[in-house]
Amino acid sequence: MKVLVATEKPFAKKAVDGIRKIVEEAGYELALLEKYTDKAQLLAAVSDVDALIIRSDKVTAEVVAAAPKLKIVVRAGAGYDNVDLATCTAKGIVVMNTPGQNSNAVAELAIGMMIFMARNQFTPGTGSEIHGKTLGIHAYGHVGRLVGKYGRAMGLKVYAYDPFITDAKIFEEDGVIALNSVEELYSKCDYISLHIPATEQTKKSINRELLSKMPQGATLVNTARKEVIDEAGLAAILEERPDLKYITDIAADIQPELNEKFGKRVFATTKKMGAETAEANINAGLAAATQIVDFFKNGNTRFQVNK
Ligand code: 3PG
Repeated sequence: MKVLVATEKPFAKKAVDGIRKIVEEAGYELALLEKYTDKAQLLAAVSDVDALIIRSDKVTAEVVAAAPKLKIVVRAGAGYDNVDLATCTAKGIVVMNTPGQNSNAVAELAIGMMIFMARNQFTPGTGSEIHGKTLGIHAYGHVGRLVGKYGRAMGLKVYAYDPFITDAKIFEEDGVIALNSVEELYSKCDYISLHIPATEQTKKSINRELLSKMPQGATLVNTARKEVIDEAGLAAILEERPDLKYITDIAADIQPELNEKFGKRVFATTKKMGAETAEANINAGLAAATQIVDFFKNGNTRFQVNK
């Protein structure tokens, strides 16, 4: 069996060492394709592999076609919108993610981003404190839940909206107030932290109308996906409401325009860095390797997302 780690944004060395240990101890071969700059490199590298570990790397129909032996793809991370699930399913390829493994890193970044914006992007001038403000968690998964926990520890009143969680106890136990509509969440919260995946239903769902409900001086924090933002709507509301702010870990397609028009009211990291910690790399990378071995040896498909 040959396992390929294909990461345009490479894992920390410790994570790669750990992946190698797990793969080689199982009697498999490990191949590495890191920091590749051209799709052709990925197409060539997958030609003889049985398993693939990726991050945000795109596994398109073209990649699948170039990998005739491929049996499993593990996205070392949460969101798998970068994988062509339909094609993989049609070819009988199992796709998994590693839920929760990099969540803490993303949650810490979301809190850091709130403070960064509250303090004028760490430039001189009077800022504000996040203590005592309201925080809205849009989707209460692994990351959202941690952001809520850290927010509460810092004295924010935390609300959440997640239509997929029907058990109210989950929110109650966390001391988080669950709301019944997304509109209510946006109306109540000084900070909204986005944790929705990019799906056909959520793409462009964060639009002008929804953002217009945010209170005076509110900030939208995006550590999720750029695709969930209706960028024209975002630009329109920022124009209309000079009090609103937007910070993102995934630059908008129109980011240069946003930066130019709105200055310090907007900020985008230069490259997505939410999961860029050694800890997150180790957790997600090793989980991916373990899941592959467990799949081949024991048929375990617990984390399969294309069942
Ligand atoms: C995820 O979905 O796990 C995060 O967005 C992290 O993505 P990355 O592995 O590309 O940093």
